[in-house]
Amino acid sequence: METEILKSTQIQEAADFLAQGQLVAFPTETVYGLGADATRPDVVKDVYAAKGRPSDNPLIVHVSSPEMVWEYADNSYKPLAEKLMNAFWPGPLTIIMPIQPGKLSKAVTGGLTTAAFRMPNNKATLNLIKTFGKPIVGPSANTSGKPSPTLAKHVYHDLHDKIAAILDDGPTKIGVESTVIDLSADVPTILRPGMIDSDDLLKVIDNVNSDHHKVSAGEVPKAPGMKYKHYAPKAQVVIVDDVNDFKQAIAEYGAKNVPMGVMATDEILQEVPENVSTYSLGKDVISASRNLFAGLRQLDSQNVQYILAQGFSDEGHGAAYSNRLNKSAGNTHYKN
Ligand code: TXA
Ligand code: MG
Repeated sequence: METEILKSTQIQEAADFLAQGQLVAFPTETVYGLGADATRPDVVKDVYAAKGRPSDNPLIVHVSSPEMVWEYADNSYKPLAEKLMNAFWPGPLTIIMPIQPGKLSKAVTGGLTTAAFRMPNNKATLNLIKTFGKPIVGPSANTSGKPSPTLAKHVYHDLHDKIAAILDDGPTKIGVESTVIDLSADVPTILRPGMIDSDDLLKVIDNVNSDHHKVSAGEVPKAPGMKYKHYAPKAQVVIVDDVNDFKQAIAEYGAKNVPMGVMATDEILQEVPENVSTYSLGKDVISASRNLFAGLRQLDSQNVQYILAQGFSDEGHGAAYSNRLNKSAGNTHYKN
């Protein structure tokens, strides 16, 4: 199948593909998603196949309005959910709630009694869901295990000839996936950090458990063969937590005489020798979050063997960047 690149105005074409049971990648403010009719288990299965994703990992149901959620979710957490929706939707917050029995297939929920709902902040995609008239599932539109796509060309690289179309709306604005909050836990719990952090959530609801695993700078990296990798390029990513260590880290890895790359803020890149490939993370952790996945992919295409990537504090808005970078590095940190 030839994958069509659609302009962000070609909403009807994209909706027609979805109605035919085809897969269409769509833009969001976080990363590109792989869309399919959430009410059809047969096409949802194609999403797992295209990505090579383990079938027990549930998908996010993307909606164009809060009302669409209540056709599937039960009302037990409605007051709490509505507070969050009013404050953060459309936006990068995914809300997990119990669903009405039988309303969503096992292919979507992984057999759980809950489902994840999100209203993305992207005009074209909100239009697409509205035009289609039903919610669409949307995992990130990458091959499972690879960095998430922040450009249409990343989607094309991973999934061309496996999906009908890509709705191209340029680079995504945030660059890391949505915050996932589980309301069905005793205390609302952040399962995946994103740009909406616990302080943002605490302005709207009374309690948030954000006790997701934080990897500290001092944590000993696990044995290479034991590493669980996600968001992983072919190159080995090494996190440099202290910017003062960059010079020494570059010298050490340079001595291995293999191609390497450095991903860091502009200030640090000024000091990098010319024979080293570089990718700019911009100026702070917000721009770094936007550039992270694209940088990993770009340096990979230059066939580097090591990527030295700048670490930032995992507090607040840095939590999402640190979480993704640690996974892509298999928790490997530079030690001087
Ligand atoms: O920003 C995003 O959220 C992007 C864009 C495309 O919307 N989507 C995305 O989807 O990141 P995905 O499938 O890559 O990540 C969804 C996460 C997974 O970690 C999944 O395990 C979790 O949400 N999840 C989904 N439903 C769940 C449920 N019922 N209970 C617990 N976790 C759930
Ligand atoms: Mg993903």
